[in-house]
Amino acid sequence: MCEGGQALAEDTLPGEVIVAPVSDADDVLRVEHIAKSFGPVTALRDVSLHLKKGEVLGLLGDNGAGKSTLIKTICGFQKQDSGAMWLKGEPYEPRSVDHARSLGVDVVYQDLALIDELSVYQNMFLCREERVARLPFLDRRSMKKEARAALDEIGIHLPRLDVPVARLSGGQRQSIAVARGVYSDADILLLDEPLAAMGAKEGAMILELIARLKKEGKLSMIMILHNYVHVLESCDRVNMIVDGVITFDKPAAETSLEELTEIVVDEYRRARAAANAEEVAEAAEAAVLDPE
Ligand SMILES: Nc1ncnc2c1ncn2[C@@H]1O[C@H](COP(=O)(O)OP(=O)(O)OP(=O)(O)O)[C@@H](O)[C@H]1O
Ligand SMILES: [Mg+2]
Repeated sequence: MCEGGQALAEDTLPGEVIVAPVSDADDVLRVEHIAKSFGPVTALRDVSLHLKKGEVLGLLGDNGAGKSTLIKTICGFQKQDSGAMWLKGEPYEPRSVDHARSLGVDVVYQDLALIDELSVYQNMFLCREERVARLPFLDRRSMKKEARAALDEIGIHLPRLDVPVARLSGGQRQSIAVARGVYSDADILLLDEPLAAMGAKEGAMILELIARLKKEGKLSMIMILHNYVHVLESCDRVNMIVDGVITFDKPAAETSLEELTEIVVDEYRRARAAANAEEVAEAAEAAVLDPE
């Protein structure tokens, strides 16, 4: 599936053989022991997760926990330092977002990636050059018509599709980014905070769309959401990431708002206690070094 079809990740250490994990036949994606640092900052320590066909996986975690880094690694935006990924049982080594897209993995970024100067319909077709090239008859008028049909299907009503997206509200821009992802022919869609900047009505529309797609069962999704109620309503399974490690994995039906809140509060208490202990240790060390 991946070009080259090598079983070894490019950055595999000498002598280290990455063996395909015993895969559940339903898994469309497996992430195994992924780590990623940015200079001194470790964003992902050791992340393993799996996604089944047609499943919606909710990814929760604090600010800075590593959620976007994980999504950006899966979508081919950046490469992990170590670890491996598998797509439908084959080694998955995306070289770029376009490459990942060609393999069926598409993304809606937290920071959107719409081009302000381009119109709504041009943004809808952005990064689909190959597709447009294969359909030379897809002129501006047809593009607009297709974009309108895709937006209508999702229930997004914009009066004009030929205005630059810079003139739209944050929520409208977000709707276009989500529509573009859904409209692609992806097997796996990664959504990084798809409801950020959206009003209640637009957010509800997107959640409804996700529920519809889930029912169809063709598309698998990993979705980062901050609202636990939305996670429990929209997702089949919940993973929580803390400091670059997945610490919680349960079907949504087997957890609750209370349990998720409890975990986060516990985590907060632990982090506070660790910070206090560090402060005490630093003060003790300073006292030893400078007894005056
Ligand atoms: N390109 C980068 N260069 C340097 N540090 C980065 C980069 N991208 C992410 N980080 C750092 O990695 C850590 C994880 O960031 P990430 O964006 O993955 O968090 P997040 O869980 O998505 O947070 P949020 O909920 O705020 O979006 C943070 O400490 C962040 O500052
Ligand atoms: Mg993020």
